[in-house]
Amino acid sequence: MPEPVQASTLAAPPIVELVGVRQTFRSADHGEHVVLDDVDLTIREGEIVGLLGRSGSGKSTLLRIVSGLVAPSGGAVSWCGRPVTGPCDGLSMVFQTFALFPWLTVLENVELGLEALGIAAAERRRRALEAIDLIGLDGFESAYPKELSGGMRQRVGFSRALVVHPRLMLLDEPFSALDVLTAETLRTDIIELWVEGRLPLKSMLMVTHNIEEAVLMCDRILIFSVNPGRVAAEIKVGFPHPRNRLDPAFRQLVDDIYARMTNRASEEIERRLKDAGRDRAPASAAGLAAPLHAVSATASRDCWKPSPRLPMTGKPTCRRSPTPSISRRTNCFPSWRRRNSWASPRWPTAMSA
Ligand SMILES: Nc1ncnc2c1ncn2[C@@H]1O[C@H](COP(=O)(O)OP(=O)(O)OP(=O)(O)O)[C@@H](O)[C@H]1O
Ligand SMILES: [Mg+2]
Repeated sequence: MPEPVQASTLAAPPIVELVGVRQTFRSADHGEHVVLDDVDLTIREGEIVGLLGRSGSGKSTLLRIVSGLVAPSGGAVSWCGRPVTGPCDGLSMVFQTFALFPWLTVLENVELGLEALGIAAAERRRRALEAIDLIGLDGFESAYPKELSGGMRQRVGFSRALVVHPRLMLLDEPFSALDVLTAETLRTDIIELWVEGRLPLKSMLMVTHNIEEAVLMCDRILIFSVNPGRVAAEIKVGFPHPRNRLDPAFRQLVDDIYARMTNRASEEIERRLKDAGRDRAPASAAGLAAPLHAVSATASRDCWKPSPRLPMTGKPTCRRSPTPSISRRTNCFPSWRRRNSWASPRWPTAMSA
């Protein structure tokens, strides 16, 4: 189970290490195109790392290199201390577009990854049901993807990635195809499971265009430059979970990152970004400066997808409960609960017996 506290990750062994990674592609029109250049990256056990960058900066390419699906044109990639020569064991991926097999049920979709690992049928079933239950899809085992909402499909995507108990889960814009509220529900469910140590994995590497999402979830954020893609800045996020979007320090960090990404950062902002890794009390207690709303108000937003502004409730985004359970999770989402109850007779729970 992961150690979610950032300080403990410093001494944790690296899962993935990239040193001087370069990726070029050839095209008939433009010759050699350098997509990634001199990328250094280390992911350690117990951390969530975010990759933020403009479209085309090579984030998905980097994920494919980390997974071993694509060999880089240059540089070295190691997985648990060994050079990567092909697809890595102990790694799974969640895609923006869910990538489910439409002719397979939820259970079959989730079991599929285990079949490829040669795990016996009974054990496959047990682990798939466990992953489905963990992620809040209990009762939908026999449903087909077309019968599910987008949020539920992505829950299948998460179950399928978690069922293999990966050391590292790669996430390529996992919430960006969902509507704002569905994305927020799933995001907070995932982070809550992580904080509770209930996700059967060690680390996550998540590509996102959403600065708020990165600050909400990640321990470390890497900002990618474009043409070529390389790590332009690394920001440690020291806020404890559950994080509060309304905290002035949270808002200030979001705005500072936005300024950094749009090249409007002043020396003062650069200093604050470097300083962001310290564990922080709420901003009011820490005496931090007011948020730089003026920066984002004037900055151009057309170069990349803006982060959705969510309804502000004034409460922490991660819900807490003395007795965490999936029923609590589904109770938080009335439409989900409704569907779950009417759907039960069609998709008998005998499947999960
Ligand atoms: N197999 C390929 N052959 C040629 N060019 C490629 C290939 N894969 C990626 N590219 C190019 O590499 C660049 C980076 O692509 P990539 O998908 O990694 O960017 P990205 O940062 O994930 O973008 P987005 O945020 O839009 O998903 C793009 O210009 C893309 O056209
Ligand atoms: Mg991409």
